[in-house]
Amino acid sequence: MSAPTRPPFDGSRPPGVPPGRPVPLGVLVSGRGSNLEAILAAVERGELPAEVRLVLSDRPGVRALEVARSHGVPAEVLERRKFPERDAYDRALAAHLLERGVELCALAGFLRLLGPGFLEALGGRVMNVHPSLLPAFPGLEAQRQALEYGVRIAGCTVHFVDEAVDHGPIILQAAVPVGDEETPESLAERILREEHRLYPEAIRLYALDRLRIRGRRVLQLPET
Ligand code: GRF
Repeated sequence: MSAPTRPPFDGSRPPGVPPGRPVPLGVLVSGRGSNLEAILAAVERGELPAEVRLVLSDRPGVRALEVARSHGVPAEVLERRKFPERDAYDRALAAHLLERGVELCALAGFLRLLGPGFLEALGGRVMNVHPSLLPAFPGLEAQRQALEYGVRIAGCTVHFVDEAVDHGPIILQAAVPVGDEETPESLAERILREEHRLYPEAIRLYALDRLRIRGRRVLQLPET
């Protein structure tokens, strides 16, 4: 008999979870951790029904780990070089998250590509924030790419993660106008402010079970 196949992820919370029940969240980081900080602040203000169960970094000594610890959140380092191959690393990351009961994983400046094994283990419940209006300017240094291209409107995107880089269905986007005197740094800073607003909001919509993936679109169900 073949293994039962799981229906494709449609954006909803797992069956049986009452909407609004705080989301057990895992956050994957590699650096500064300002999005992590924004998520934790939203939780602490009571605006985001989530509980950050674990912060995992692929490198030691990064600020995001300090952010986690200063908010009393467990934080661990799992280095890629300690694993023979990517799939084993992905499985270890997923296992750490699942051990803590994580339902949704938020990538917040995590600088590694995750494979199908990771997404499968999390049932597709993985989000990312990217500092451009996708599908424009995926990959690194998106703000610099946008400025060099000459766009007048830049921005950021929160999306569900699929197997391609910065590609999955888009949950929320915010636009940031580009001024004549803009530098990559000034643009990055203004985009980051929008990221800090958008990411907790996307997680909140998920927590309230208001997101549904239809093809490439993510619909927002009305508030009940
Ligand atoms: C953000 O610009 C985010 O969009 C990108 O990586 C950066 C992470 O910043 N994916 P931080 O670590 O959350 O401060």
